[in-house]
Amino acid sequence: MCGIVGYTGTREAAPILLDGLSRLEYRGYDSAGLAIRNGTELARVVKATGKLKNLAEKTDNGRSLPGTCGIGHTRWATHGEPNQTNAHPHVSGNARRSASGPVESDVVGVHNGIIENFEELKQKLLNNGYQFYSGTDTEVVIKLVDYYYKKYKIGPVDAINRMMVRVKGSYALVLMFRDYPGEIYAARKDSPMIIGVTGEESFAASDVPAILKYTRTVYYMGNLECARMIPGSVTFYDLNGDEVQKDTTEITWDAESAEKGGFEHFMIKEIHEQPKAMHDTLNSIIRDGRIDLSGAELTDEILQKTSQVYIVACGSAWHAGMAGQYVIEDLAELPVRVELASEFRYRKLLLEKDALVIVISQSGETADSLAALRIAREKGIRTLAVVNVVGSTIAREADHVLYTLAGPEIAVATTKAYCAQLAAMYCLALQMALVRGRLDPERYTAMIEELLTIPDKIEKVLEDKGRIQWFSSKFANAQDVFFIGRGLDYAISLEGSLKMKEVSYIHSESYAAGELKHGTISLVEDNTLVIGVLTQNDLIEKTTSNMTECKARGAYLMGLTSYGNYSIEDVADFTIYVPKTDSHFVGSLAVVPLQLLGYYTGVARGLDVDKPRNLAKSVTVE
Ligand code: F6R
Repeated sequence: MCGIVGYTGTREAAPILLDGLSRLEYRGYDSAGLAIRNGTELARVVKATGKLKNLAEKTDNGRSLPGTCGIGHTRWATHGEPNQTNAHPHVSGNARRSASGPVESDVVGVHNGIIENFEELKQKLLNNGYQFYSGTDTEVVIKLVDYYYKKYKIGPVDAINRMMVRVKGSYALVLMFRDYPGEIYAARKDSPMIIGVTGEESFAASDVPAILKYTRTVYYMGNLECARMIPGSVTFYDLNGDEVQKDTTEITWDAESAEKGGFEHFMIKEIHEQPKAMHDTLNSIIRDGRIDLSGAELTDEILQKTSQVYIVACGSAWHAGMAGQYVIEDLAELPVRVELASEFRYRKLLLEKDALVIVISQSGETADSLAALRIAREKGIRTLAVVNVVGSTIAREADHVLYTLAGPEIAVATTKAYCAQLAAMYCLALQMALVRGRLDPERYTAMIEELLTIPDKIEKVLEDKGRIQWFSSKFANAQDVFFIGRGLDYAISLEGSLKMKEVSYIHSESYAAGELKHGTISLVEDNTLVIGVLTQNDLIEKTTSNMTECKARGAYLMGLTSYGNYSIEDVADFTIYVPKTDSHFVGSLAVVPLQLLGYYTGVARGLDVDKPRNLAKSVTVE
């Protein structure tokens, strides 16, 4: 969840690290810090609370920290409150210190993840004379490396390996050792870490955008591996200290896609990139008017044999799974269960042997989704990852991978990756329906043709954004918002409600429309905003009556429906229309006004919509 960057090379490290961290700030923004070494001098550590710009100001944009080797970190607090002492980098020395300056320490490092047995390890280190200045698990792990390094008089790789054997939990660690100037060491378990090498320079990063400007050729570190970087070269080691040979991966994202490109925020830019995300994803799967899942090695036989589908994910990816469930069940007549990954991993579900477990994840690193994937694999159940980040852990560990082609998503609140996930789910549903004989070839072809029109129809929805902006400013001071819908409309409501609460901080809830009167309607009072999603023709009347029930209690009603359903205006106070399309795909259109509503409400309230408080883009801890 935190962001990590490391650099060793020929240029000044601090400005490169600050630039890299600025591209990772979406991963955490409680505090940030740098440790820079100038030749053989001791590392100098500078930290600042709050946004990265505070650290940039404190270091005169890195100019006050000369040196060509360094590590940087942007934090999302797990252990210890977000203050300067707890900010990374952490050091092996005992002194409590806050001012910048050289640090009398043999090891200095940054960490992403959670060390589960840190209390026990801390006690061991306290018994061995170590003192602690912070409340973090990171300080413990760095002191543990220092302990082994000195006790056994071994080199950095062996000391790190001993630490890895002893520590429980997940981590990506980047370290520097006082006795090894110009060198950076990295280690990982269950938290992402990539290494890029180009010319006379080497980079480490927790995520691709940090180093995309410098290199597209990267190594993905494996679990329980260690890396030693010197300028222009990297060597990987396994837990025994033996060298590991690795191939590089070419990142195809262009650097511009990780820039704002004239938009005020990444979120609105990414909302506008949805037609492209959908178009690219569909066109990577649809060839000559047919769905081709050979890239994911999903044969017709596998799909025919599948007796049950489990969709496992978190947050918005889980909402995409909910929508996928309705479409697969309706088209392919295949039973589907949608499970929250954090629940799935601890439930003793009786998985059918011919089941397919689909894990949906933008980052491909979400800890709960990864754990769920591993459980399914341990049980011998076939797994399919629907993932956006190429080479991510979930993508590498699943039996099959279907990539969504949304490109890098920077705003913490997902929009275009969710849109691409829906596209992938539609394709899976259509192919399952065809091979199971539930969809005749003419309808299959017609539905694919219709699906390919969705990107243009999303463009049309975006043209209407002015009305939503106006409406958002009208309700920017709302206390509560309720989203209601039935069937697929409920799945879309869930996503609309999440967008609203995460970027505007207005309390919002999504309810299956029929469920409202079983309790929640007691919260509806004069002027409470109730948003009805009404795109499923067979359910419109039912949801309209639920909206009327709310109106009778004073609610202000917004209706969201397709062109043609003009009778909604008899009930709703404000109506938004989206183009007509097949009812299975209309969620891809209906979600866009809801994303815009969340975005514009957050902006109207003066909030940092790209980096909402308390959230992190990639949740790599449990
Ligand atoms: C909400 C959001 C999160 C993610 C969730 C899963 O806008 O972005 O709810 O959808 O944390 O993340 P991934 O898809 O990376 O597994």
